Amino acid sequence: MRSPWTRIVGPLIVFALSQVANFAWPSVTAATGAEPGGITFEIIRVTAQGSTWLAAAFVAIRLLDLVLWKGIIVRRTGAPATRLLTDLVNGIILVSALAGVIAFVLDKPVTGLIATSGVAVAVVGFALKSMISDLFSGIAITLERPFNIGDWVEITGGIVGQVTNVSWRATALMQQNGICVMVPNGRLSEMVLKVYDRPAKAWRDEIEITLGYEISAHQAERILLSAATDVPEIMAQAKRPDVKIGEFAANGVKWRLRYWVPDYPKRSSIRYAVQRNILRNMHFAGVEAPPQRIETFVTQPPASVGSGGTKAFLGRVSLFKMLDEIEMAELAANVEFRLILAGTPLVRAGDAGDSLFVIKEGLCDVLIPGADGDRSVAHLKPGAFFGEMSLLTGAPRSATVRASTDSMVIEINKAAIQPILARRDALVEAMSRVLAERQIQNDRSQIETAAANDSQSARQSLSQQLLGRMRSFFGLGVAA
Ligand code: CMP
Repeated sequence: MRSPWTRIVGPLIVFALSQVANFAWPSVTAATGAEPGGITFEIIRVTAQGSTWLAAAFVAIRLLDLVLWKGIIVRRTGAPATRLLTDLVNGIILVSALAGVIAFVLDKPVTGLIATSGVAVAVVGFALKSMISDLFSGIAITLERPFNIGDWVEITGGIVGQVTNVSWRATALMQQNGICVMVPNGRLSEMVLKVYDRPAKAWRDEIEITLGYEISAHQAERILLSAATDVPEIMAQAKRPDVKIGEFAANGVKWRLRYWVPDYPKRSSIRYAVQRNILRNMHFAGVEAPPQRIETFVTQPPASVGSGGTKAFLGRVSLFKMLDEIEMAELAANVEFRLILAGTPLVRAGDAGDSLFVIKEGLCDVLIPGADGDRSVAHLKPGAFFGEMSLLTGAPRSATVRASTDSMVIEINKAAIQPILARRDALVEAMSRVLAERQIQNDRSQIETAAANDSQSARQSLSQQLLGRMRSFFGLGVAA
């Protein structure tokens, strides 16, 4: 690859040749018989001296490009200098070189020229005033540096883009949809700018959602906070998500879920992940968004908390989808709701227990005790169940399950589920499959054995073994 320094060689050669000509021209002119002050003499002198000035200007321009614009500035600011700044400095160098040629080579007064050009500039300036305003606004932007090349900014009208260039006339913003917006510098300097990368790249986004007045503040917090807490990029930030009330509106409470995102480009994917989690949490909690129109609200009172109640919630849990209406009602009549505050364990590893839990709202962590402290093996979301190992096998709790956000869970004890398990072999099998997966995940040595043999068949045989243990624990017959 050609070195960038080769770009400086051309002007340097011209500079050196013109210097040689400068020193040699008296003898050259003498040899050609040109008279000092004659036309040939003047042409040679002006060419040699003029080339010195112009070649020196080009050497300076290219040196600045290599050392300052693409070197020091990039190292110091992390972004290249704007085109406007480099063009401006290059222009000043060239105009100075031309002024040098006029004053010292042609021996003409520069001040007169400046006065004449001043009148011309005034006339042209009037005609091109918006372009001149763009130019000076561009210079102000370049000097003040409200943003760097590469920063994400939002301008009036909600246009958001990454600054890719500031030129004489306009600033280029590349939007996330791949469309480049050119904003005239004069207009930009009058706009209110939001710079997402200042003072730091992380910033707080928020989602507003209206929930009915029948939803308590605690329930709304559980639904909303766990939706944000469940997104790893949000939890990697130093500041935690929170919820606030935006307004008490006619059709419900406007809740604002606020969370920090690492940088602007991640905004939409994180937002979508949170929105999906909110929908999932609302689904499992049986919460619906209130009707928008107040007339509907007046004539049709909103459904009670957890539309459809416990039975409807159980129907939304995939594990229980196979149960019929009667079994669902039977189960629903025998469950207990438990509200667990963030950080509180629901079951502890090693304890005896015979209940199954299903998360209705919130998030729970599964922790396995080890020699070097608790190891988190799973993160359970609304709709997930736990406690099946002790319930089905009679063994002590294999793990500690702790609420990681305020959570609402339902507890189903052995007496409530045993009659249904006795009738529904498919339910026992579904639970045994999940149980086997979890057991394999927890037991490193079993995973290694599974990997060494055929992992699929190892899983099946483990699942069969556990199924056998469960059947004997519950005194169930063999499936037909
Ligand atoms: P149990 O042993 O009764 O109590 C702790 C529960 O944690 C256990 O049942 C499972 O329901 C759950 N659990 C254990 N390991 C995992 C895992 N790897 N993934 C998800 N849940 C688990």
